[in-house]
Amino acid sequence: MNIKSKFKDYEVVQVDSDSFFKELAQPNAYYVIDKNVYELYPELFQSLREDFLFILESTEENKTIEMALAICERITKLPAKRNVSLISCGGGIVQDVTGFVANVMYRGIKWIFIPTTLLAACDSCIGGKTSLNYKSYKNLLGTFYPPDHVFLFTRFFDTLSERDFLSGLGEVVKFNIMRGEAGIESMERDLNLLLARDKVVVGRFVETSLEFKKPFIEADEFDKGERILLNFAHTFGHSLEVTSRYHIPHGTAVAIGMMIAGEISLKRGDLRKSIFDRIKILVKAIVRIDLEREWFEINSVINAMKKDKKQTGDTLTAILLDSDFRLNIKNDLTTAEVSQALLFVFDYLVS
Ligand SMILES: NC(=O)c1ccc[n+]([C@@H]2O[C@H](COP(=O)([O-])OP(=O)(O)OC[C@H]3O[C@@H](n4cnc5c(N)ncnc54)[C@H](O)[C@@H]3O)[C@@H](O)[C@H]2O)c1
Repeated sequence: MNIKSKFKDYEVVQVDSDSFFKELAQPNAYYVIDKNVYELYPELFQSLREDFLFILESTEENKTIEMALAICERITKLPAKRNVSLISCGGGIVQDVTGFVANVMYRGIKWIFIPTTLLAACDSCIGGKTSLNYKSYKNLLGTFYPPDHVFLFTRFFDTLSERDFLSGLGEVVKFNIMRGEAGIESMERDLNLLLARDKVVVGRFVETSLEFKKPFIEADEFDKGERILLNFAHTFGHSLEVTSRYHIPHGTAVAIGMMIAGEISLKRGDLRKSIFDRIKILVKAIVRIDLEREWFEINSVINAMKKDKKQTGDTLTAILLDSDFRLNIKNDLTTAEVSQALLFVFDYLVS
């Protein structure tokens, strides 16, 4: 798949053997590898020299400007300057930090990204967003900077924990609900195969998710217009990540956010019950973590929502879905309706 970007067009390639990794080796390459991936796949990384390698522990606490600067600092020690290539291998956290580094280091260096989580493969690897957390605010700092190449090697998903695999499925379910009737039907048909990590089916859903995202990011790379619609469910999702202190992983929070958005649309009369019932079943199948009521406490959620980038004023803004699968920006959400939806969704998911 070729992605058009104002910076540079780039390729996303599915590979079925790890030989691509050795082919990337070159004297000017600096590697940033997720710590778990580094330990799980020693055969891939054993030949890398320590001074060309940064091992990153992927936690939200590490997605900071300090971590990005620590990597920049290490890159300054290399003989190669603007001709250095950054090769990063990991999930969305490695991507967010290394995308930022690739963008600011010498005002932009070559960057190759190898997503190792389902979430990074089906969503974040395209679109060029780089994000860092600042104080308690999620993704407050960031830039746009796409990679030069993305290599998708789905064998990496075999070792994902249940929590992280299901988090990736959260984004897959989101894209397929946004696709409309055909997307929902395909999810309903293949849900069990997806949950069983069937390679062919997972690979297909990664592709349909990226295909759905591609026209939005190409038409509105800098998130000024229609790309904002891709944030469906994210206002609530980001808030739950914050209120749960990241116990709820990103894609799972987005899946729960979809239900909150759906419940609000239903109560407004904008979404048919028959569609919402199908969304609820899909979301419940993939949300398998123990939820705590305090994470859904209205004041904390509203507080977190107000710090979200998408908020433009004092009113609460979110993207809601209607019965024709149109996504609409709503600027008039009330605390009462968010509160009702939070209570409903929590009770439904823990029942
Ligand atoms: N830039 C964007 O466009 C964008 C989009 C969506 C999400 N994000 C960000 O991505 C982050 C979430 O990323 P994520 O869900 O990909 O995961 P992650 O990077 O947070 O990693 C989750 C866990 O999986 C481990 N892991 C990674 N690959 C593995 C593998 N193959 N086998 C075993 N363990 C592995 C990691 O070590 C980590 O413990 C959030 O910070 C979110 O805000 C960014």
